[in-house]
Amino acid sequence: MTIYQGTAQALPNIALIKYWGNRDQQLRLPSNPSLSMNLAGLTTTTTVEFDPALMQDVLMLGGRAISGPGLERVSRFLDQVRHMAHSRHFARVDSRNNFPAGAGMASSASGFAALALAATAAAGLTLSEANLSRLARLGSGSACRSVPGGFVEWAMGEDDRSSYATSIAPANHWNLYDVVALIDLEHKSIGSTEGHAIAATSPLQAARIATVSDRLAQARSAVLARDFEALADVVELDSLMMHAVMITSSPVLMYWQPATIAVMQAVRQWRANGLAACTTIDAGPNVHVLCTAAAASEVAIRLRVIPGVRQVITAGVGGPARLIPNP
Ligand code: DP6
Repeated sequence: MTIYQGTAQALPNIALIKYWGNRDQQLRLPSNPSLSMNLAGLTTTTTVEFDPALMQDVLMLGGRAISGPGLERVSRFLDQVRHMAHSRHFARVDSRNNFPAGAGMASSASGFAALALAATAAAGLTLSEANLSRLARLGSGSACRSVPGGFVEWAMGEDDRSSYATSIAPANHWNLYDVVALIDLEHKSIGSTEGHAIAATSPLQAARIATVSDRLAQARSAVLARDFEALADVVELDSLMMHAVMITSSPVLMYWQPATIAVMQAVRQWRANGLAACTTIDAGPNVHVLCTAAAASEVAIRLRVIPGVRQVITAGVGGPARLIPNP
């Protein structure tokens, strides 16, 4: 294999219909399809260099060397790329987020999407978008949705080959915003990977799965029709159903803090009074407030004064993972 460097940039995504639970934990084949939008302006930029002189993979995150489980996860992922490229060389991976480290914004989606693209480029491989999405999925399930641009659907598929994400509408289809209320700047205690593994211990997971296709169809139609009201109801319901599963899992996963609930309650009230905003929450206490362009600055102003909200970040809809020039 020729020694190449590759650099790629990818954005995080926020799920409108959530991925929670796997049919196959190793291959990250999800228990249900999901739908998301990429977040513009928040970037992970990753450079990968395969180097015959290295004795092991090296991972730098935000300029700091990482060892232990973080490095092992990336090494296992790079094994897939080495396998595809028939290579034995170890790699140096340098990854940086432009959003604050430890700000509670999930970075595994943008991280593994950027890594998949940078590593395959460095290895001299050119993958189709579908195959790149499949590869990113092996690193982090939601990362498969950060490969295509705009509004993205991850069809659960039947196996490794058929489980990947595709764009249902480009970023400029609808000027939606995600105004994120950051409530806890600490890292979460129990991550998504462990959460997926115990989702089925909740008696509510079966009910969530049985009804998710209907919610996905509603959310997809609402996005395609740019119908915020229709989207708001189904987005909030789907997020609450995932959290109902989480808080009834064994062990219990309770990510909400008092300020999380305060924001949810406030936004419901604002919507009842005519502001086009709704909430969705991932595996942590932060609240993503989705809203129309007309409501975005008002939402940000109102969120900043809710006690317990430490920071507010506003993002529009973003594009696909892309290669950029090497540094
Ligand atoms: C709650 O993709 O982070 O954000 O595959 O273990 O990395 P891993 O899990 P991850 O799970 C995302 C869970 C979620 C919902 C979602 O984004 O759909």
